[in-house]
Amino acid sequence: MLGDREGLSGKAAEQYLLERVAIVAAIEHFTAHMGHWMLNAKALDEAGIDPTMLDLLRWHAAEEVEHRAVAYDLARHLDRRYMRRARAMIVVAPLMGVIWLRGTRFMIANDPELRGLPAPDRKRKIGWRALRRAGKRGLLPRPRELGGAALTYLKPKFHPSQEYSTSQAVAYLASSQAARAAH
Ligand SMILES: [Fe+2]
Repeated sequence: MLGDREGLSGKAAEQYLLERVAIVAAIEHFTAHMGHWMLNAKALDEAGIDPTMLDLLRWHAAEEVEHRAVAYDLARHLDRRYMRRARAMIVVAPLMGVIWLRGTRFMIANDPELRGLPAPDRKRKIGWRALRRAGKRGLLPRPRELGGAALTYLKPKFHPSQEYSTSQAVAYLASSQAARAAH
């Protein structure tokens, strides 16, 4: 969906480019939502996650919140039509769900820390029910919440600056142990 397409020129190439920018903007709405969630999910602190890994995740989360309006503003600058934005979200929302599920399965299948588990446990497919359970424990955003984020994006007057906190994100970026160590 985001790759180059052979043989397009002129107006068609321009339209395809606008469509891709609109799709990136819609994806960025979800990454910002996930970022905000991750910065505020207290349950992650008590879940026994490796602290460096959690810090790296939260650093990325903060970075997603911080730049949440960039793709949106570019998309709107190039094409202000509501239909373009709405269509992009309608395409992206179900796709993000599928990609996240696949990504989660991939990570679990390849996590060396889980290698000690019996094979059936490792191979067991992670389905929507498992994700919902994790959501109840506060370890993942709830599917309903993600659906709500998609609907927010469809509001005609929506702008990413209306949600989430840039100051919280910037404060985390400044205090992240991993970022400090990298400097
Ligand atoms: Fe991003």
